[in-house]
Amino acid sequence: MFTLENKTAIITGAAGGIGAACALMFARHGIKTLIMTDVRKENLDKTAGEIEKETGIKGACIACDIRREAEDEALVAEALQKAGRIDIVVNCAGVSRMGGLYEISEDQWDFTFDINVKGLFFLCRAAYRVMEKQGGGCIINLSSQAARSGGLVVSPDYPSSKAAVLTLTKSLAKSGAARNIRVNTVSPGLIATEMTTTFGYDPKTVPLGRLGSGADVAGAVLFLASDYASYITGACIDVNGGIAMI
Ligand SMILES: NC(=O)c1ccc[n+]([C@@H]2O[C@H](COP(=O)([O-])OP(=O)(O)OC[C@H]3O[C@@H](n4cnc5c(N)ncnc54)[C@H](O)[C@@H]3O)[C@@H](O)[C@H]2O)c1
Repeated sequence: MFTLENKTAIITGAAGGIGAACALMFARHGIKTLIMTDVRKENLDKTAGEIEKETGIKGACIACDIRREAEDEALVAEALQKAGRIDIVVNCAGVSRMGGLYEISEDQWDFTFDINVKGLFFLCRAAYRVMEKQGGGCIINLSSQAARSGGLVVSPDYPSSKAAVLTLTKSLAKSGAARNIRVNTVSPGLIATEMTTTFGYDPKTVPLGRLGSGADVAGAVLFLASDYASYITGACIDVNGGIAMI
């Protein structure tokens, strides 16, 4: 039985989709302190309320735009003040859009990379400092199957940013290893969330015959966050219903 008792976690992008599913999964597995963060505070509060109703675990909701290093540092400081330590960080905040080669502007390119790569890095670094001092921790970053396939309908900034997440994770895992900080990636395929509502995928094209759910991804995140994964770092778990085989 997986347990996260005595552990403290920060989950970004927790207002909905995969982030909310991870928060619920952690609450169901007895997380001691759950810090939920997102740029959409109203949705975050609503999600936290639903999780509390189901599990009795009350997540602390902190608004944060992860693009800003100062906000990342403030988030980690507030989490530390509330919980005394930070064992787990799950980076689910992310953006994507549909579009072709000639449709993306310079500002849109920067927006995607600011959130998916830069913000993720600065939040990892802020948490890493705390983890280093306390003797360890673990970070799980959300990449995407698109990082390896180049994406199906998303514009080119998205798969490129998610490929950067794969490499950044390995870089952080290398420096974290001697400090007992594990850093891994979960790479989803087609997951039914707000992000993919307009994608129009036919579930029949997925070998397992359906789109994934947030809970499917959260299961892999839970494993990596647990002590059962204590010898795993710099790795990537694919959660894609077999879509990488086609
Ligand atoms: N849904 C999929 O099929 C799929 C596939 C592969 C990878 N992913 C990745 O998984 C992660 C979660 O995706 P999802 O499907 O749950 O998407 P989602 O759109 O449902 O959730 C993403 C969350 O990130 C938040 N966010 C956006 N910008 C932010 C910012 N600047 N600061 C803080 N929060 C911000 C949003 O408010 C939202 O709640 C993303 O990184 C996404 O790229 C999703």
